[in-house]
Amino acid sequence: MTLTDEIQRRRTFAIISHPDAGKTTLTEKLLLFGGAIHVAGAVKSNKIKKTATSDWMEIEKQRGISVATSVMAFDYRDYHINILDTPGHQDFAEDTFRTLTAVDSVIIVIDAAKGVETQTRRLMEVCRMRKTPVMVFVNKMDREGKDPFDLLDEVEAELGIHVRPLSWPINMGQRFKGVYNIFQQTLDLYTPNKQTISESIKFADVNDPQITELIGENDADKLRMDLDLIEGVYNPFSTDDYLRGDLAPVFFGSALNTFGVKELLECFVQIAPSPRPVDTLERRVDPLEEKFTGFCFKIHANMDPNHRSCIAFFKICSGKFERNEYYRHVRKEQQMRFSAPTCFMAQKKETIDEAYAGDIVGLPDTGNFKIGDTLTSGEVLHFKGLPSFSPEMFKYIENADPMKQKQLDKGVNQLMDEGVAQLFTNQLTGRKIVGTVGQLQFEVIQYRLEHEYQAKCRWEPISLYKACWIEAVKEEGAKEPSPEAKAEYEMFKKRKAQYMAFDKEGRDVFLADSGYVLSMAQQDYQHIRFHFTSEF
Ligand code: G4P
Repeated sequence: MTLTDEIQRRRTFAIISHPDAGKTTLTEKLLLFGGAIHVAGAVKSNKIKKTATSDWMEIEKQRGISVATSVMAFDYRDYHINILDTPGHQDFAEDTFRTLTAVDSVIIVIDAAKGVETQTRRLMEVCRMRKTPVMVFVNKMDREGKDPFDLLDEVEAELGIHVRPLSWPINMGQRFKGVYNIFQQTLDLYTPNKQTISESIKFADVNDPQITELIGENDADKLRMDLDLIEGVYNPFSTDDYLRGDLAPVFFGSALNTFGVKELLECFVQIAPSPRPVDTLERRVDPLEEKFTGFCFKIHANMDPNHRSCIAFFKICSGKFERNEYYRHVRKEQQMRFSAPTCFMAQKKETIDEAYAGDIVGLPDTGNFKIGDTLTSGEVLHFKGLPSFSPEMFKYIENADPMKQKQLDKGVNQLMDEGVAQLFTNQLTGRKIVGTVGQLQFEVIQYRLEHEYQAKCRWEPISLYKACWIEAVKEEGAKEPSPEAKAEYEMFKKRKAQYMAFDKEGRDVFLADSGYVLSMAQQDYQHIRFHFTSEF
């Protein structure tokens, strides 16, 4: 197979959902289809138990397994599929957001009874920002849920994306009879069954009288009316709109009953993008270029203090990666080679000899890599699109052992490089503030500082709403902001000095203490833009 063929058959995506919507179940069913696993329950048993509430040490024990499931690769027909896990539950962290920077498309799972929930909304913001193509799977149709049309309205309104159903459910809950696949004009009759897959029956169109025989007159009439309505209300499906991130095809089914999953997968491999070009500060990198490039989007630390090693996860953006080849670590200006790169086939971690654009490789690391680092075959490139996202929770970090200030500083710096959380330094007082997206990260940081760096920290409360990266507005085409905008920017910084901080890169960040304060600032300072991510 040529390099181009290898790259074009790759599909790298993430499944995102609110906890409990069915992400694990769907992942497992996709692996079953790929023949990567043979029994249902295999992935499930790796899942971080929900009962482990906030006991993160318990979570960590299980995380040893979860590293193996952070990427699941398998072949389906001629395609090579990489599913990236986006941790949910308590270990929801900035990691989750950043994982989305390494995928080429996304499948969103929605619980038919619950509709769009918070975590999905937050993750979708990242997809929208990056214009990631999105597909929606409405799960748990075997239970009573919301009306499908209402659900579609909800997805459009809450996730800010146009939708187009490509399959349509016939009833739900106890009365659930199956789905009509609009994409292929087939009917799948539902039988509750976790292992076998229903056979699709092909029709010329939905008016075929056999459909009436199969599902009864009432349901057949209702199906035809619904489909008429769909044709009238939604624009025809366009792959281009999907690829631009403007339109999400929607499927209905029940992951637990392996129902509707095959249709989703079939459509996915046909329309989901192969690796997409990625922008660097210097130029756009095309995946089909022969020379290897890649960036680090995640660092998974080994929590065992006796073996301080990590795995740095690299997304390959172009060409082919080879074991024992020399590559350039751009930030460190150093050549490096890797004798034990790993890839993740289903649940197994295996050493590999080569990997292609679209793939994720895990590189064993002892502190050489930071999030955002670039490896290349020689060229100096800096990948864009790995922004920091505004944290949601903030605390002052204080030294609890004055003899260990150095260790604390070193530990905090390294943990921030790993992307565990973000550090802000108040411009007025110099006090350090740690921002996270989940409560658990504070516990993780404290524990790791103590066990890996022999430093002790203490948390003190601070009430903040968001961190905003700010800039003085530039007129269109202008290189610099106008003197007026610059003056306003300086004035803002002076007036809000108490709330101004530097991020780790030394950029100005406004720490808004409430939504009200932020919207007032946006109103009052017309020459300043407030961003919730560090890249704009
Ligand atoms: P998550 O990864 O998004 O958190 O969700 P997960 O797949 O773990 O599913 C959450 C719960 O929903 C599980 O039940 C799972 O069995 C159930 N589920 C998933 N898909 C369907 C579906 O299509 N229909 C129905 N009725 N239920 C579904 P649980 O009781 O929490 O776990 P378990 O005891 O079944 O393992």
